[in-house]
Amino acid sequence: MMNLYFLMTALFMGMAALIAADAALTSFTLLPWFNGLRWLRVHFITLGAVTEALFGLLPLVVAIRAGLPRPTFRWDIWLTLNLGLLTLLVGIPIINQSLIFAGGMLIFVATMLLLWQLRGMQRETPAATAAGDGRKFYIAGLSYFLVGIIVGTGLWLGWSDWLHIQVPIEVHIHANNWGLMSLVFAGLLVDMYPTWAKRPLAWPRSITPIFWMLTIGALGLILGPWVKSNWFSVPGIILFLAATFWLLLNVIKPLWGDKATWLQPGIWHLVTAYFWILAPVLVAPLIILGVPGFPGAGVEQNAPQALIYGWVLQFSYAFIPYFFYRLFLPNEPARLGGSWLSLLTGHLGGFFLWASIFLAVYHNVLHGLAYFFWTISLIPITLLLWRIMRHGLHLLDERSGVVIEIVET
Ligand code: HEM
Repeated sequence: MMNLYFLMTALFMGMAALIAADAALTSFTLLPWFNGLRWLRVHFITLGAVTEALFGLLPLVVAIRAGLPRPTFRWDIWLTLNLGLLTLLVGIPIINQSLIFAGGMLIFVATMLLLWQLRGMQRETPAATAAGDGRKFYIAGLSYFLVGIIVGTGLWLGWSDWLHIQVPIEVHIHANNWGLMSLVFAGLLVDMYPTWAKRPLAWPRSITPIFWMLTIGALGLILGPWVKSNWFSVPGIILFLAATFWLLLNVIKPLWGDKATWLQPGIWHLVTAYFWILAPVLVAPLIILGVPGFPGAGVEQNAPQALIYGWVLQFSYAFIPYFFYRLFLPNEPARLGGSWLSLLTGHLGGFFLWASIFLAVYHNVLHGLAYFFWTISLIPITLLLWRIMRHGLHLLDERSGVVIEIVET
């Protein structure tokens, strides 16, 4: 029963909406600032909604692509992931070292188990060899997640000194963002694009070089802050960006001129989310060069949130509802999630967050507006997930009613 991961995804998406609203209200000084909520704000999305959904769907997608039967639900993975998450949700805001250690390690074990499961799922049918190959993206992404978990767990436990990490928070963000998220999202595009767009990617043979460029680029972006050297970061950014452009061109070119496709907000979410990856990269040289008057500290403090809400969340607005349809309502046509409202407000949020960095005088009001728009964008998606799930569970209920009646007669 894969749906349990999705139940948690819907739950955490709701929490993400609540806590984005809290950030808006505190910025407008309508509510007192809650200490420790900053961690929850980002991680309800990254761990709660996205990682949870990925753990549920990756074994399914890999099995379909490899022509294998639907894998059985792994309770061990579900339990270790969710126990770890709940332990962190308690431990990090109050900075309790034993809870942080236990939570981090449980998620580490869950990730190892998932990696093991995916590695074991080899293609069995020759026909399946021609299908997309996201599996290697997922395995590489989850391997970087292991690094991100160790560094993230160690942030409050003093492991960074022991591991000789120069800028630990950046290593954590880079391992999870450029390592885990971008590789897994690329894998999903490779595997799912033919279904979503009803046509193949522009250059299927480019997938392998794109995979290596993203993987090596992410490594450079992790090693850069680890040893504090641009000799790793700069080639890392170049490889990473080149591969991302190449992947996006693969996505956009076949759809160019096809008006009907561009009338779907879901496709816009998938493609335009990537703009928010570019924003920090474009200003990075100004920080590295130390341009006077440039608010480098503000960027370092706020850019991670713009990245999570602008890119990770927007990409998720499209793909998470799609898999909800597939799993809960298998007899209905599945479509990408998102609406023109979530698209507009998702981008307005990113715009106002960046504006709050540069217009320091209006910081609070602009910061509040950013979270206001992100809250608005989250609400319809959360409602959609709940609606799909409720409908699906209702059908399941009806069917089990029928089964009971049959058994009784
Ligand atoms: C077991 C998993 C994880 C642990 C233990 C963990 C831990 C942490 C900790 C302790 C911080 C520092 C908070 C602070 O300085 O106040 C942090 C920040 C952050 N983490 Fe994680 N994290 C995990 C997973 C992830 C994932 C999957 C992502 C996905 C991209 C992520 C992205 C971030 C970001 C963007 C920040 C910076 C937040 C900000 O500046 O507001 N983390 N994490």
